[in-house]
Amino acid sequence: MNKLALVTGASRGLGKDMALNLAKKGLDIIFTYNSKADEAEEVAQEIVKLGQKSAFLQLSVDHQDGFEEFFGNLQKVLNEKFEGRKIDFLINNAGIGLPTVLGETEEKTFDTLMNIHLKSPYFLTQKMLTYMNDGGGIVNIGTGLTRFSMVGYSVYAGLKAAITTITKYWALELGKRQIRVNTVAPGAIETDFGGGAVRDNEQINRHISESTALGRVGLPEDIGSVVAFLCTDDSKWINGQRIEVSGGVNL
Ligand SMILES: NC(=O)c1ccc[n+]([C@@H]2O[C@H](COP(=O)([O-])OP(=O)(O)OC[C@H]3O[C@@H](n4cnc5c(N)ncnc54)[C@H](OP(=O)(O)O)[C@@H]3O)[C@@H](O)[C@H]2O)c1
Repeated sequence: MNKLALVTGASRGLGKDMALNLAKKGLDIIFTYNSKADEAEEVAQEIVKLGQKSAFLQLSVDHQDGFEEFFGNLQKVLNEKFEGRKIDFLINNAGIGLPTVLGETEEKTFDTLMNIHLKSPYFLTQKMLTYMNDGGGIVNIGTGLTRFSMVGYSVYAGLKAAITTITKYWALELGKRQIRVNTVAPGAIETDFGGGAVRDNEQINRHISESTALGRVGLPEDIGSVVAFLCTDDSKWINGQRIEVSGGVNL
């Protein structure tokens, strides 16, 4: 029986590349989108073309109010499309880039970032545990910005640092179920993240390329394969780690 992965925020960007790479490794995929149902449909078709089963569900991580409905929908999909199986791997990926400097940060912005990057992954994972098999894993998506700093990202990076620390604690707590928990911390990648600045702003792109040992910014396909590797037996002894995938930025 194929293993089953659930990736949040896989309608585009890094999550999409994770879902496709997981499918290439022979996993079936359930993934979520927030607003872009058409893109989600395309990703689902690509997964099916790779020979794997796929389903997608709407999920907002702006708040936790919709989680009960989400888990109801998830159970329905598991029963109807996946023979009542459970999830083996959870990838907490959905997120946004919202720069804000200390002097100007509104409480609403702080709360949005906190819900998306900390509170929702925490409680989504908590609720997901009963839907998960023992012996699988969880991958949290962190950021290079917890190792080095960039103006405007204190709230974002602070929250990613929290989930990176939480990763270690979950690894400890879930070890008895043989569930491994790791953080993948991407460097700056060309996606829609933060208004697509890394991809579309020439100055930012050049600055990051010049600060990176391998001489360019990251692409989504630099990340998905690493997440997929963490969801195979090849990585069975990697646990509680932060793995930075940045081409060596700001070394
Ligand atoms: N790109 C980078 O440079 C970079 C670097 C380090 C870490 N990261 C992290 O990598 C993850 C993915 O980022 P990305 O670059 O792939 O971004 P992206 O291209 O903007 O894609 C974001 C994904 O998350 C979903 N999403 C956005 N807001 C959501 C919400 N409120 N509720 C539920 N889902 C939501 C989107 O769904 P819809 O398509 O339906 O809107 C989409 O699938 C994030 O956690 C980000 O912090 C990114």
